[in-house]
Amino acid sequence: MNSDNNFYITTPIYYVNDAPHIGHAYTSIASDVLARFMRLDGKNVKFLTGTDEHGQKIAKSAEAKGKNPQEFCDEISLKFRELGQLLDLTNDDFIRTTEQRHKKAAIAVWERLKERGHIYQSKYKGWYSVRDEAFYAESEITDDKKAPTGAPVEWVEEESYFFDLSKWQDKLLEFYEANADFIFPRSRRNEVISFVKSGLIDLSISRTSFKWGIEVPGDERHVMYVWLDALTNYISAIGFPDEKSEDYINFWPANIHMVGKDIIRFHAVYWPAFLMATGLPLPKKIVAHGWWTKEGEKISKSVGNVIVPSQLVEEFGLDYVRYFLLREVIFGSDGDYSRINLINRVNSELANKIGNLLQRSLSMISKNCEGKIPKVSSDIYHHNVLLQKAEKILVQVKIALSLPEFSSALGLIVELAEEANLYIDNQAPWALRKTDFSKMEEVLYVLAETSRYIAILLQAFVPSSAAKMLDQLGVKESHRSFAYLNKDSRLLSGTEIPEPKGIFPRFEEK
Ligand code: MSP
Repeated sequence: MNSDNNFYITTPIYYVNDAPHIGHAYTSIASDVLARFMRLDGKNVKFLTGTDEHGQKIAKSAEAKGKNPQEFCDEISLKFRELGQLLDLTNDDFIRTTEQRHKKAAIAVWERLKERGHIYQSKYKGWYSVRDEAFYAESEITDDKKAPTGAPVEWVEEESYFFDLSKWQDKLLEFYEANADFIFPRSRRNEVISFVKSGLIDLSISRTSFKWGIEVPGDERHVMYVWLDALTNYISAIGFPDEKSEDYINFWPANIHMVGKDIIRFHAVYWPAFLMATGLPLPKKIVAHGWWTKEGEKISKSVGNVIVPSQLVEEFGLDYVRYFLLREVIFGSDGDYSRINLINRVNSELANKIGNLLQRSLSMISKNCEGKIPKVSSDIYHHNVLLQKAEKILVQVKIALSLPEFSSALGLIVELAEEANLYIDNQAPWALRKTDFSKMEEVLYVLAETSRYIAILLQAFVPSSAAKMLDQLGVKESHRSFAYLNKDSRLLSGTEIPEPKGIFPRFEEK
């Protein structure tokens, strides 16, 4: 059983019908921040991402490109791996649904559902959207024959296997009731509950009109419905059906499935029902983020306003992109990407507040204290209010990220930097240099020590800049986890620090 010291987080597996864009980058970065944060907190983390490669949508995209589906998937799946490198994701595994280990798990899930009497054969007559890979009830279809997501639908009539989803309605409602934090944010939870209350109908879980999928065991005319196949990735990557495998024992049930708001129904309704019916434990939390628009407009290929992650990273640098995406919106709400907002956000917070704090403090230390962490009395924490605040920040950031709410977690860190900047202004160490040298040393010590807290916490969000901050503060690599965020691990006076260099330069338009 997944104990408190283990932490398993997943991203959705991405469809390989198209190249990666900002939406994929966002889901992945948010997950990466949590994975890094938990590792810094001493947890044994498993962070999974991957690609969703079966189904009609992929088959059609491959066909449109005149490619064999497997070759097509290999090509685009690789682009998602490259996205991972570009974004410096720390995923421990990358699962592809065309891998044998995955097919084996999906087949095992099917067989268990069958054995336990949850699958029956009938005929599906109804609406299907290839774009969403979803079945929709008549009541959900708009007058102009669109799904609620705006995706076109088509009428399908074919022989199909069904999962007895309708039988799970009450069990699901009881589960949501007993686990108030299962779905975050609350607004999504309410949406899911009202969808389930409105009545669940049995779900078609196989297709016969195309071949690109996992064959249904014992019936080669059918391939599994791509969402049943895809959702299983979360357990196939940790060794299922071997429930004795080390990873399965350590990491199931998952702590967090991070998803976008568009796929909450699959994760918060279908997946728990499949698991209950298979007799497996349910994940602890489904976290749904909002969608990004660009300069106020929906992002789409037809509008031609797709944001390519590599272009953003090339122009602004990875850390600025990671910071902006997580800081700009309250997690769960939609966000608008605009160039000017990104520039303002990183300049006003990373450059003017955090970068400036470090630059001001370290350059004074370098000039006046022989480039060494200055002397200070050993009871400094007892009488310095700024350090007392710094000491409390980890607990506050942890609370914010336990929701998770990334923007307010970053807000707490920025606030500490603001207070440290005020402290410099009030103490005026440049004046103390002449009037009270040891007080100046104390002030500079406090600033460096406060910066240490800021840098250690920032590691999860802006890893390479935070590492540079810690290098400049002379903090050893082995002393950068949260276990060192306390007064006993404070900076040692006399430690040499390198020549300070700007870490968060202002972004200037060329
Ligand atoms: N293959 C399914 C997931 C299966 S999980 C078992 C899928 N793939 S996807 O590639 O279409 O989308 C992956 C993620 O990208 C989703 O979480 C989705 O919300 C996110 N985004 C796609 N466009 C987005 C924006 N414009 N903004 C933010 N995220 C968006 O769904």
